[in-house]
Amino acid sequence: MSNNSPRAVFGSSLTAMLVTAGCSVGLGNIWRFPYLVGEGGGAAFIIIYLLAVIFIGHPIMLAEFAVGRSTHKNAVGAYSVKDKRWGLLGYNGVFIAFVIMGFYFVVAGWTIEYMVNSADGAFTGFTSADEYTGFFSNYVSGVWTPLIYTWIFILISHSVIALGVQKGIERATKVLMPALFIILIVLAITSIRMPNSEVGLKYLFVPDFSKVTSRTIINAVGQVFFSLSVGMGCLTTYASYFSDKTDIRKTATQLTIVDTIVALLASVIILPAVFSVGIEPTSGPSLVFITLPGIFNTLPFPELVSTIFFMLLFIAALTSTISLHEVVTAYLIEERKMTRVKAVSMVSAATVVMATLASLSLGVLSEFKIFGYVIFDLFDALTSNLLLPMGGVMICVYASWILGDRFMHAQLSNESRHSDTIVAINIFLLRYVSPVAVFILFLDGIGVFKMFR
Ligand code: TRP
Repeated sequence: MSNNSPRAVFGSSLTAMLVTAGCSVGLGNIWRFPYLVGEGGGAAFIIIYLLAVIFIGHPIMLAEFAVGRSTHKNAVGAYSVKDKRWGLLGYNGVFIAFVIMGFYFVVAGWTIEYMVNSADGAFTGFTSADEYTGFFSNYVSGVWTPLIYTWIFILISHSVIALGVQKGIERATKVLMPALFIILIVLAITSIRMPNSEVGLKYLFVPDFSKVTSRTIINAVGQVFFSLSVGMGCLTTYASYFSDKTDIRKTATQLTIVDTIVALLASVIILPAVFSVGIEPTSGPSLVFITLPGIFNTLPFPELVSTIFFMLLFIAALTSTISLHEVVTAYLIEERKMTRVKAVSMVSAATVVMATLASLSLGVLSEFKIFGYVIFDLFDALTSNLLLPMGGVMICVYASWILGDRFMHAQLSNESRHSDTIVAINIFLLRYVSPVAVFILFLDGIGVFKMFR
């Protein structure tokens, strides 16, 4: 690879694509998207989501890639190149990474619990919606089991990063991502064939805009940031390992499409089954966990299918937590001159504290609220609906106004391989459409915390 920088560089475009897919495809697509679709009224939410992907998420992704690939630095370093003050954007990212990890690891811990219980056949005797729901709420509100699984997940993710086995992850991702994809398709077909599934399909594909509120729009836009992993320099950090030959437009487009398809597939699995099993579509964060075992029970070898599924979900979550961990670790190593082991340990220790609080907030600490939210929900809403979009606007402004048209043009056209018109459209969206759209959403909210209630 032609690159003068001493830092690691991803071998090929395929690797660049797969590793960024590992970062973006995760619990956001399979756990968060379907329950937001359920809460947001179905098809109308999906349409708003797709518009936000095209007009907001994808352009910001291009900006992150351009900044990362051109500087070959961690998030703080990359945004400080022109003016130290813009480094603030990187610090914002480091902060956001912690807050996301705070609740993400808790849900990741749930995937282990469900994997273990599936293998054990715990769900096979269940028949009614109440049993699935009861199991879930009993489990998450407990103290030790969810905590232990959360800590185990943190430890696994810690070990992977500390050992620097990215190569292993790279190789594993090449097999596991396609496996996840295949199992999702099988499940989607199963779910569609369950009795009463038409109600769910109608919910997914026939929009009812009368239910759309500003809340729905804010959730949809927040989910775009969360699912694509944009707005905090995560993709900037990953793109800093791209070779100068990597075509960032192509990578961004493929990544956006893959991420969106996985999210859509997940909701085609969940919502028909929700109506079939008789679960409330508005069940929130529990939705996927209470619905899936119901689908598995209609299949041959439910324990096996269920275990494999939760294992893949576990891996999808792991490749995402690694990316979050890496944002902070890369910063500590490069800007604070720490050793890898020390940096990773500090991040993990802080994460244990955050995740413990978030996990307990679903049980013993549920009375403790900040701005009306329990800690888990606060971490979630604060990042997706406020901090990531804010970071995203700043990234747009930085890339398109501060670094400027000429810079973006050079980055996006990849030695003029892309036509000027497409690049001009990309830049136009980045300059005017994305930041203005997000800004209008903010105005809509006035009173920052009331906004994302
Ligand atoms: N996008 C991931 C998911 O969908 C989560 C994630 C990883 C993320 N890195 C991020 C979200 C950076 C925001 C920013 O599960």
